[in-house]
Amino acid sequence: MNTTDWFTSWFNTPYYHILYKHRNDADAQFFMRNITSFLQLPKSSTIVDLPCGKGRHSVYLNSLGYDVVGGDLSKNSIAYAKQFENDTLHFEVWDMRKTIEGRYDAIFNLFTSFGYFEDDEEDIAVLRNIKNGLKENGVFVLDFLNVEKVKNTLVKEEVKTIDGIEFNIQKEIKDGFILKHISFFADGKAHSYTERVKFLTLEKLQSYFDRVGFKITEIFGDYQLNAFNASLSDRLIIVAK
Ligand SMILES: C[S@@+](CC[C@H](N)C(=O)[O-])C[C@H]1O[C@@H](n2cnc3c(N)ncnc32)[C@H](O)[C@@H]1O
Repeated sequence: MNTTDWFTSWFNTPYYHILYKHRNDADAQFFMRNITSFLQLPKSSTIVDLPCGKGRHSVYLNSLGYDVVGGDLSKNSIAYAKQFENDTLHFEVWDMRKTIEGRYDAIFNLFTSFGYFEDDEEDIAVLRNIKNGLKENGVFVLDFLNVEKVKNTLVKEEVKTIDGIEFNIQKEIKDGFILKHISFFADGKAHSYTERVKFLTLEKLQSYFDRVGFKITEIFGDYQLNAFNASLSDRLIIVAK
């Protein structure tokens, strides 16, 4: 496995968490409140949050009474999340490309944690792993970006200053990927990373879901759970069984 993949390095840095600090606990809690009340999962349910980052969704889901396992490839994020562990909340370093051993009531893949791989088959394999990790009536929630809206509102260049770091950001859509080039100077040196997320439309995702035998039961367009609209929605949230 190539450990120099962009998602292995960038997400393991403190700078990723600084740039995305607006994606905070409040943002996670609002969505989790809405989706759990929509799903009506019994409190005894076990939910896997994969990848969980530093655990913002996992911690809140656990506070709602669910048994939660958070997994992420980033060792630093899992080390941080472990401070929140209790009898019904656990975190582990977990590569979503690996087969899931247990069987769970629900698996959540939140905040654009999908579509990272060059080869479609690798993305489909992640979905297959998730499907195999669910109990008979288990449910999967995928919270992805709405690529159509990203394309129509693409800001090609911008500068964001957060915590004293000036992030220079350039975005482009190229070869089927949304590329976000991020460069900045911090802690005495220049850094540059490129996020690469596949341009996955609902139609393309539907074909992935079909391939693994997942049935899409609901499609939402934002964290309030309004219906999905390809030109207007901020998110593409798919519920599947
Ligand atoms: C955009 S972040 C979202 C994290 C979290 N869901 C949240 O909302 O804060 C994407 C996460 O995917 C993780 N990741 C990337 N590739 C992974 C893989 N192959 N297996 C597990 N986690 C992975 C990264 O470490 C990062 O924490």
